[in-house]
Amino acid sequence: MRELGPIEIFSRWFAEEERDNQEHCMVLTTCCNDRPLSRTVLLKEFHENIFTFYTNLHSRKSQDILCNNTVHLLFVWKDKQISILGKAEQVSDKRADEYFYSRSQEKQISAIVSKQSNSLSSYKDFINEIESFKGSIIRPEHWSGYDVIAYQMEFLERKCHRRNYRILFKNIEGDKWASTELYP
Ligand SMILES: Cc1cc2nc3c(=O)[nH]c(=O)nc-3n(C[C@H](O)[C@H](O)[C@H](O)COP(=O)(O)O)c2cc1C
Repeated sequence: MRELGPIEIFSRWFAEEERDNQEHCMVLTTCCNDRPLSRTVLLKEFHENIFTFYTNLHSRKSQDILCNNTVHLLFVWKDKQISILGKAEQVSDKRADEYFYSRSQEKQISAIVSKQSNSLSSYKDFINEIESFKGSIIRPEHWSGYDVIAYQMEFLERKCHRRNYRILFKNIEGDKWASTELYP
């Protein structure tokens, strides 16, 4: 696998996974002031070493990213694991618009109404707010996305008798990566 490079390995594994899964979940870990927190988000786009998700900029994860934009992404696909370290950078308003307006009206209203990560007195209130929503459907300024620009990517493939294969790539510069195989 060493000769393939991390982008090629990710693309190949992603293509295999895509056959049986429409949505691509990843676990995003942020860490501000030594308080790490993980949650699932959807991978919406990837290009080269850039992985994109969309979210609310007032959420806990976005506040963490403001404080420390180094984030971790974890993919677990059957017998494969991909671990990524990268820097999160907010996408342009144009890209946020493109994705927001491509979604169903129901999802747009939920995104407008949700004060993500804030406390809610009752779930019923959230549903009432959605059902009584009469405003215009405009992407809120605090709804956007992040590109995670990977600088380290590790791949693990489970093999029989725990003879797992593990390889770590570190970005040197541009599209140059240094690789090291690791004991599993
Ligand atoms: C399968 C799945 C996919 C999710 N996708 C997203 C997503 O793409 N964006 C998002 O903001 N939250 C998503 N969530 C909700 C997050 O896991 C999380 O609860 C929410 O973003 C608030 O996180 P925070 O308070 O740490 O910011 C998803 C949850 C699940 C279970």
